[in-house]
Amino acid sequence: MQKDSHMRTTDLLSTLIKMYRLLWTVSPFGLLGTIACRLLLAFQSIAHLYLISLLVNSVSQVITTGQPLSEAGRIILLQVGLSIAAAGIQSLDGIIMTSLKMKAKFHIEDRMAQQSSRLPLVYFDRPDYYDSFHRATASQNSLLLIDASFSIAQSLLTVAGYFVVIAGFHWMLAAGLLIFAAPSFIVNMQLGQKRFIQMIMQTPVARKAQYVFTLLVGREAAKEVRLFGLSAYFIERWRGLFWQNAKQQVGLERRGIALNWGVDSLNSLVGGALMLGLAWLGTKGRLTLGQYVALTEAFTSAKNQLMAISSSLALMYQNILFARELFAFLELPGEECPLQASLPSGDRIEGIIDAEDLVFNYPGQSNPALSSVSFRIRAGEKIAVVGDNGAGKSTLAKCLLGLYPLSQGAIRFGGIDIGSIDPNELRKKITAVFQDFVRYQLTVRENIGFGSVDRLADDDRLEEAAAKTGASEFIEGLADGFDSLLGPMFDGGRELSLGQWQKIAISRAYFRRAEVVVLDEPTASMDPITEAAVYENFLHMAEGKTTLLISHRLGVCKAVDRILVMKKGRLIEQGTHEELLKLGGEYARMYQIQSKWYESTENGPAKSGYSLSANHA
Ligand SMILES: Nc1ncnc2c1ncn2[C@@H]1O[C@H](COP(=O)(O)OP(=O)(O)OP(=O)(O)O)[C@@H](O)[C@H]1O
Ligand SMILES: [Mg+2]
Repeated sequence: MQKDSHMRTTDLLSTLIKMYRLLWTVSPFGLLGTIACRLLLAFQSIAHLYLISLLVNSVSQVITTGQPLSEAGRIILLQVGLSIAAAGIQSLDGIIMTSLKMKAKFHIEDRMAQQSSRLPLVYFDRPDYYDSFHRATASQNSLLLIDASFSIAQSLLTVAGYFVVIAGFHWMLAAGLLIFAAPSFIVNMQLGQKRFIQMIMQTPVARKAQYVFTLLVGREAAKEVRLFGLSAYFIERWRGLFWQNAKQQVGLERRGIALNWGVDSLNSLVGGALMLGLAWLGTKGRLTLGQYVALTEAFTSAKNQLMAISSSLALMYQNILFARELFAFLELPGEECPLQASLPSGDRIEGIIDAEDLVFNYPGQSNPALSSVSFRIRAGEKIAVVGDNGAGKSTLAKCLLGLYPLSQGAIRFGGIDIGSIDPNELRKKITAVFQDFVRYQLTVRENIGFGSVDRLADDDRLEEAAAKTGASEFIEGLADGFDSLLGPMFDGGRELSLGQWQKIAISRAYFRRAEVVVLDEPTASMDPITEAAVYENFLHMAEGKTTLLISHRLGVCKAVDRILVMKKGRLIEQGTHEELLKLGGEYARMYQIQSKWYESTENGPAKSGYSLSANHA
């Protein structure tokens, strides 16, 4: 993620080279084809100029000496032929470019998608990741770079031809042409750079504006926006952010336009002087009429081409900077795979899970979310993790899953450091349901089958996983069974209740049949009877498996082998339910509070067979 807005010429060139290398990878024939077309078109412009001078000379001969028109006719015929050929080449180039750009767009988006999935999870907690991604997406504008760079190359070739023609008459004319081009060139380059710096600065504001806009038009916040009457507040907020962005842009463009006006005026003056020079050469008898006309034409065309080049260059410069962001994003280091996957092959993670002195800091946070956490989990042991909100339970789970890199300390699976295990190997053996699990707006089959995506077609396994959580009850009622679409986002989709979604998410974890199971409070929206049944099934399923159960319901702790109690990122107590009650510490305090709550809100034992509420100790 490049925050610096300064760019050296070497960066510029290396980005341009990367872009062309990308095009070469995407379609070598397309790239060569379009280069050939541009070369031919540049050659055609110079040939056209040559033909004009021949034609004017020939016509002036016809007028002054009464020669027959046949010579002029032949030249005109050639000109027509050349124009038709040029139009043909232009069309061909259009076709090649369209396909080349589409292929390049696909290649870039494909790589961006792959890159996003390779990045460690920790990037997704960083605002600068989203800024960089936002700019990298805009970098697809860097496809404009291709257009602009080809146009520039073509124009440069044409101008070089003209330049040779003009310099052939008088070097001062050629020098004048250069003086003419310089100011507009410099102004446009600077404008390109300023636009980019502005974009870098504006990205966070632009993202915020987009976010607030989504709150207004999206589904997620629609209920609360109406309930709390937030629309006026958000509209006002969005307007402010929009104009904060827009004013800076308009200001820059205004300055650019004023500068360009100055440059245009200067160009007119230099242009006038050059025309005067041409006329003077004419009066000295050093030019034929044909040459005079051809030179005027060459000069005017070169002038226009140079102006076009300088604005294309500005565009290219700006887009190279976008492209730099794109390549910077694509080159972010992905999740590292150790050279040798040292996790023993086979189905089981052997032995003990060992956490030693874990420290984890979220990026940009000064207080560690985990500090000095050490514990051991034996294979097949069932562990509950409890603690206040923000105690670090979910963070601990994500570290154990290898989703976050530790700031300090070590996690070992069967004695092997997590850092030397291929993350994909590790995750094959672990399954989890997160607190904020995903509700895929796809079919039931996919929602459950994603637990082990290569077994999507295994209906028996789907049925088993759905039955374990009780999800089968409502799946049976859906018109297309496992192939019913879920969620309200697409036509024909069926929205579920939160508790039903949770059952689907837990079924997904079952479907994986992994050795280590992590359940991060996924039952909060279930009715108590279902919740008890889910835990009962869960513990049954987890028989012989290593299990980590994060829960605020302390009742479940009685059914586990050991309880870890967390507070402010530290592991403060561990032991069995009885041991911890005896200890009379944090766990006992939490348990007493929950018991009291149950006693004062419920008059009698829980209805389920499995005692979850704390008053059934
Ligand atoms: N993505 C994040 N970026 C920065 N800080 C975070 C992030 N996620 C959590 N935290 C912080 O880390 C600490 C631990 O959070 P964690 O989610 O692990 O708590 P928890 O014990 O799971 O809480 P809860 O019971 O509410 O689920 C909290 O102080 C929280 O503010
Ligand atoms: Mg949590």
